[in-house]
Amino acid sequence: MITIKSPSQIELMRKSNRIVRDTLEMLRESAKEGVCAYELDRKAYEYITSQGAKPSFLHYHGYPASVCISINDVVVHGIPNRKTYLREGDIVSFDVGAVLDGWHGDAARTVGVGKIDKYRQQLIDVTKQCFFEAMKVVRPSARLGDIGQAVQKYAESFGYGVVREMVGHGIGREMHESPDVPNFGVAGRGIRLEEGMVIAVEPMINMGTHKIIFDADGWTVRTQDGSVSAHYENTVAVTADGYDILSL
Ligand code: MF3
Ligand code: CO
Repeated sequence: MITIKSPSQIELMRKSNRIVRDTLEMLRESAKEGVCAYELDRKAYEYITSQGAKPSFLHYHGYPASVCISINDVVVHGIPNRKTYLREGDIVSFDVGAVLDGWHGDAARTVGVGKIDKYRQQLIDVTKQCFFEAMKVVRPSARLGDIGQAVQKYAESFGYGVVREMVGHGIGREMHESPDVPNFGVAGRGIRLEEGMVIAVEPMINMGTHKIIFDADGWTVRTQDGSVSAHYENTVAVTADGYDILSL
């Protein structure tokens, strides 16, 4: 079932998403060479809880940390640990979720550590633009396939792989609600968007093929070919005349 959010509920979701946004900004500024991933996770936990919110990933289906930190060939769901340090040239995806007064926020950003090569920078930029390509089609009566096609077309025009198995999602009182929001598809197919739907749109783009593998920890998702991957996500409300990005 897809839940429709009222304007006042959307304002509550903006509050949790602002905490997510500010946490991501803090992580971006902290993402320097030599910094420990576990330290970043702890800082995110401190900030989110200081705002009266809860990190929604912590203990979600047993997930052991507050945020996901996915470096280089890790696509998503990298678990921050004490042994992982950021190195110059890495690309790092931060994924943050927070719940405030029962309403969820979810967003992700990918950043470079120090000086990164131009191919990696292009992957980061194109992944972000994939999200904004999707926004160009979001409005009531547009279809989910319009979003998928917009992302896929743009990413593939650079020769990149669009991850298939992991998708965006509805969001609200639960972090993951209906519908699934794939980053690939055919325009004109899929359910129609309606005013008051809130979705997390989250392109995950690989420099190589779209294929992924899971680590033995059951969480960490990597590219099968070892190429680097980027992730960009925002929580978006469908409005009467288009969209409202709640996590910007
Ligand atoms: N942003 C991710 C998602 O949309 C968050 C899930 S990470 C988990 O699926 F650890 F909580 F599972
Ligand atoms: Co999400």
